[in-house]
Amino acid sequence: MVQVGSLHISPELVNASCAWASDLGQLQALFDSPDTGAVLTRTSTLEGFQEDASSHTVAFASSSTTSLNSYGYSPHKLSQYLSWIESILSAAATPKSKPFIISITASQPDVTRSTIDAIQALRSKGPAFADIGIEFNTSCPNIRGSTPPGYAFTNLVPLLTVFADAWRADNSLTLGLKLPPYVHAAQFAEVLDTLRQFSTTADVDGHARNPIAYIACTNTLGNALLMITRLRYRRPLGGIAGDALHALALGNVYSFARLLEAEDSASGLKNLVIIGIGGVTSAEAAARMRKAGASIVGSATLFGKEGVRAFEIISGKH
Ligand SMILES: Cc1cc2nc3c(=O)[nH]c(=O)nc-3n(C[C@H](O)[C@H](O)[C@H](O)COP(=O)(O)O)c2cc1C
Repeated sequence: MVQVGSLHISPELVNASCAWASDLGQLQALFDSPDTGAVLTRTSTLEGFQEDASSHTVAFASSSTTSLNSYGYSPHKLSQYLSWIESILSAAATPKSKPFIISITASQPDVTRSTIDAIQALRSKGPAFADIGIEFNTSCPNIRGSTPPGYAFTNLVPLLTVFADAWRADNSLTLGLKLPPYVHAAQFAEVLDTLRQFSTTADVDGHARNPIAYIACTNTLGNALLMITRLRYRRPLGGIAGDALHALALGNVYSFARLLEAEDSASGLKNLVIIGIGGVTSAEAAARMRKAGASIVGSATLFGKEGVRAFEIISGKH
């Protein structure tokens, strides 16, 4: 069991936010799976994302468990996810048996605030709904005309301020950040330097806390091309994931883990949990992620190929 903010995650395996965590049936199957410790939704927004089938799609490689996708965010609005989650948790035999983490994104502070408020309104409906966290997606590489904000991390300060305010008002709110794959050392330092500004001042024992409970590393690596995708397709380029991303994702997890190890307990970041995502397509890959420093591992591509059976495979049951 790993404690992430106020959420208890057991087993330490989750689906990564993805297109296969889009609708009620998919979320229910994830909730019912005994092999995951939390359900992550696909990234949603207040208004829903305009999806069109010729631009937004996914393809799998034939020679390895690798995917390439050009999806943006979910076409379903946040309000739809809230009502699905409310109905799943209301019907559960043992409410609170598995946390939900709602992936969201926004680029403006006021929209971010409204998004958090809508989620908090569900959480306040009673103890059955308390175990709902928020993951802020900073890293979708497929949004036309927009740099994934995780690649210009200091620009996120106004939005992180909104998250920090929400956490100060309610410490039971679990917040995570979905980060893009980074490729040089200064990028990891920039993330931690920015987050450190939001830590509380150290208490008498010298311990500080940070509003952000976890980082999820990594999202897909953008602008990749698989030659199996039709080049005449409106958008043959997309985010690469699965086996082809694994080495870079391991390097990201390892880099953050080493930096966090060196943090002082007064910095507030010492206990930042890492969810390792990227090419977790087997029990061996999950073991490598944990060895690199992940406390929890997540998977999207194998889940897309196999459905919830993926989590049995990663757990070593096959
Ligand atoms: C089809 C597809 C859709 C995805 N959609 C999202 C999303 O909505 N939000 C998000 O944070 N990540 C999204 N991702 C990225 C995954 O969460 C994950 O970071 C990435 O695929 C690497 O994990 P994997 O190697 O297990 O696939 C998506 C990935 C795929 C393949």
